Amino acid sequence: MDIYALLKSMTLEEKLAQMSQYGTSVLDSGAADDVTGPARDLGLTAEHIAAAGSTLGSGTAEQVIAMQKAHLEKDPNKIPLLFMRDVIHGYRTIYPIPLGMGATWDEKIVYDCCRMAAKESAVSGITVNFSPMVDLVRDCRWGRNMESTGEDAWYNSRMGAVMVKGYQGDDLKGKYDIAACVKHFAAYGAAESGRDYNTTDMSDYTFYEHYLPAYRAAVDAGVEMVMTSFNALNGVPCAGNQWLVNDLLRGEWGFDGVVISDWNSFYEMINHGFIENSKQAAEKAVNGGTDIEMMSSTYIHHMKALIDEGKVRKEQIDRAVLRILRLKEKLGLFENPLRATSVEEEAKYCLCEEHRTLARRAAEQAAVLLKNEGVLPLSENIKSIAVIGPFAACGMNGWWSCQGDTKESVSVVDGLRAALPHAEITCTAGCTDGLHDSSNDTMLEKAIAAAREAEAVILCLGEQEGWSGEGNSRADVGLPAAQKELIRHVVAANPRTAVLLFNGRPLALGDVINDAPAFFTMWQPGTEGGSAAANLLLGRVNFNGHLTMSFPYHVGQAPIYYNRMNTGRPKPGDDSTMGYVSRYVDCPNAPLFPFGYGLSYTTFAYGKPILSANTLKKGSGEQVTLSVTVKNTGYVAGTTVVQLYIRDLVASLVRPVRELRGYERITLAPGEERTVTFTVEEDMLAFRTESGKIEAETGDFHLWAASDAASGEPVPLTLV
Ligand code: BGC
Repeated sequence: MDIYALLKSMTLEEKLAQMSQYGTSVLDSGAADDVTGPARDLGLTAEHIAAAGSTLGSGTAEQVIAMQKAHLEKDPNKIPLLFMRDVIHGYRTIYPIPLGMGATWDEKIVYDCCRMAAKESAVSGITVNFSPMVDLVRDCRWGRNMESTGEDAWYNSRMGAVMVKGYQGDDLKGKYDIAACVKHFAAYGAAESGRDYNTTDMSDYTFYEHYLPAYRAAVDAGVEMVMTSFNALNGVPCAGNQWLVNDLLRGEWGFDGVVISDWNSFYEMINHGFIENSKQAAEKAVNGGTDIEMMSSTYIHHMKALIDEGKVRKEQIDRAVLRILRLKEKLGLFENPLRATSVEEEAKYCLCEEHRTLARRAAEQAAVLLKNEGVLPLSENIKSIAVIGPFAACGMNGWWSCQGDTKESVSVVDGLRAALPHAEITCTAGCTDGLHDSSNDTMLEKAIAAAREAEAVILCLGEQEGWSGEGNSRADVGLPAAQKELIRHVVAANPRTAVLLFNGRPLALGDVINDAPAFFTMWQPGTEGGSAAANLLLGRVNFNGHLTMSFPYHVGQAPIYYNRMNTGRPKPGDDSTMGYVSRYVDCPNAPLFPFGYGLSYTTFAYGKPILSANTLKKGSGEQVTLSVTVKNTGYVAGTTVVQLYIRDLVASLVRPVRELRGYERITLAPGEERTVTFTVEEDMLAFRTESGKIEAETGDFHLWAASDAASGEPVPLTLV
């Protein structure tokens, strides 16, 4: 297809229709000659709908086939539609939420899951996925923590790039490749007070060092699309932030793919108080370099006037449309508008056995064992287990679970029953809904009685699906009072109790962690959560997951993250009661569970890290190595994540107390030991100095090879 010739043949209205995106229901409501409902509310005509460029939210292959065929009959230029969707952690087969996938520290399984999601999406007709979300997250209150891989920019960059490759394949030409869209540009995760959509305000230093790198990594990995964010950043809404999109993303980073707004965020610039009307929204956004507006119609309604008034140049429009057409071309849509869409393949692959197995493995790898005082694993010969709690008998797919249906997901009780067909597995699920307190004593009594009668208890607690995700921030990220009460009663009735948490964010467990002997989180594990839970509980698979967001004692510590600054008055130690230092009088400074933390059914002994040389010469291209020997000191095989951290002790801008610069995931048999060697080079010590240059400054550094961000002994290195 000669997209330049095609562009030339298009009218302005047709171009603007390419630049506007509506939900499938809007397109349907405008399909008839008599435009109705949502399309009419947006002021769209049948001509706008006929020339539409893309849509979001389609469900099945059948729907896509029908819509694409109908569209091609009506569109004067016969340009196929792009079908976009949020396939955040699986299309129909749901794997754990990204925060859980982050906890795997396993790029291979993250990649495999994204390939699976791409395949199910592609056969169901999706061509663009609004994922990965690489927003850095530091505040446990924010509902969208679940969509991120955590609080570290370096780690999110790696994972974001892996996800882009997983969706897009090598070149987008593969049958099951779909385009990825990195979001939300930029700094959406820094919403003040952890409240979704709230303003963000930050220094350049923090922005460049922590918030920008993961978007950049996705761009460098070849992501096809970027979505701007809802928030205002330092006073300018990102939907109309010309510096952000034009200068930084397109100019400095050279991104030439499609930029799309977030849902209705053009109009929302009026609420922000940045512009007065939708005409100004269109002007700001198009001049800012945003190609597609999602779920609003400012381009369609105002562009002609803006061009006539000389406020927007026609070339701006052409450039935007060209980028959209180029994406369609790359996806091969002009030759094959339906691409992989197929009712037969949809039935064959969605929720197929192979995909369910992968989802189960991912849920197993994502789970993090937080505490275990001799309760887990359960014996294979156990005769009876009481599964208790609001989430005992339901599937737990989590927010953004696309076409996933919790009815198709395995609950904990079903998982255990399938794993242990001869044991008696009772279920007391209704004792609290997690929202109200347990004044319903009958149910509490039932739970206590069930706990007494069983050999062991699995208490399924945490958050309902809708307590995290978009718009779902929480001011108190602890367990609800009813669940805490349940823990106390049930553990009193049966001390062999393990608490299985479902959560879309770090929970503040400071006030309950001593009330039960074992806690682990499975996040929102997806389709195979219950089967994964059974395998973990029985020790058929080990716990390998490690946190990528700190778990606080108390919500008042938020935002809490490991790579903080030292301050001028650091607290001398966790137990110190010294005054006039940076501390809380009623809570530790440290998190309850740090970044990188995760227990196993075995134990690992980390030896003393050894550095190959104590100095590194700046500009020499030299490398040093940091080696540490790790031994499995327990009785079962297990996996640990050896983490490399650095600290720049004195710099022209103060530096974090630790920064992750590498990791290696190793599996050791009982008694086995292995030496892990990290290569350390100047680049790893670099940061954006006051001059704006990325460089390493000479001076002293500390290095750690440790099992989490709070452990290990530092080894000194000097950059000379
Ligand atoms: C969300 C985006 C999402 C879009 C389309 C918005 O509300 O912020 O992350 O991609 O909706 O569903």
